[in-house]
Amino acid sequence: MPYDFPSIVILTGAGISAESGLQTFRGDTGLWEDHRVEDVATVQGFHRNPSLVYEFYNARRRQLQDVTPNGAHDALAQLEAEYPGSVTLITQNIDDLHERAGSQNVVHMHGQASSALCSHCGARCSWKGDMKESSLCSHCQRAGGLRPDIVWFGEIPYEMERIEKALEACGIFVSIGTSGNVYPAAGFVNLARQVGAHRVELNLEATSGGAFDEGHYGLATQVVPSWVKKVLSR
Ligand code: APR
Repeated sequence: MPYDFPSIVILTGAGISAESGLQTFRGDTGLWEDHRVEDVATVQGFHRNPSLVYEFYNARRRQLQDVTPNGAHDALAQLEAEYPGSVTLITQNIDDLHERAGSQNVVHMHGQASSALCSHCGARCSWKGDMKESSLCSHCQRAGGLRPDIVWFGEIPYEMERIEKALEACGIFVSIGTSGNVYPAAGFVNLARQVGAHRVELNLEATSGGAFDEGHYGLATQVVPSWVKKVLSR
């Protein structure tokens, strides 16, 4: 790694997809205003009422057909393509907009709407249409075991070892479009501080006092491209 191009770790949240038309979770128009987390984003909720949970994620999955990446997603894909150092993109989002913008090194720590997990055989498979109890696992061909491949509250996020390794080696940590409400993602900025990384927040508004060295506030489609341009012009 060329020394003067420290590795960059980016954490994104729902705010980066807001201008593509996907709802965020908190705030007056947030998803959690119309649904109780306990009902649609916990294992208990799924066992209590599976069809409610299937339908919640079917709606999320269907919406992906009608939205496209925005300028902030595109800017991060350009950063990964043109920055001489390494760029790791960790997202809390379950949409596929980073990939569709061209980002390749993406870690979906909360899972993906377009993936199904089978509790019979443990396989994960790509899932584009609606899912229901009678849906067949494309691996073991059994019904009654498929769930959305989403990390629910109380479950362990995916790829935490890979995430911690990237944070330990990072020189720049950038938090984009996340309220910093949910751990462990909300704690990544502190891990970055411990290794002396330069910490940047790009968000609609400042989230936690003093955790960041640098902050640019406004719409992601404005603040993210301009920050990427600054980094690439160094
Ligand atoms: N541009 C930039 N930032 C925005 C925009 C925008 N257009 N719109 C909203 N934001 C910011 C909000 O100010 C807020 O700080 O994005 C953040 C969205 O916060 P949340 O709705 O809490 O979403 P997120 O931080 O991703 O939630 C984390 O919580 O419910 C769980 O699993 C879910 O992954 C999610 C996690």
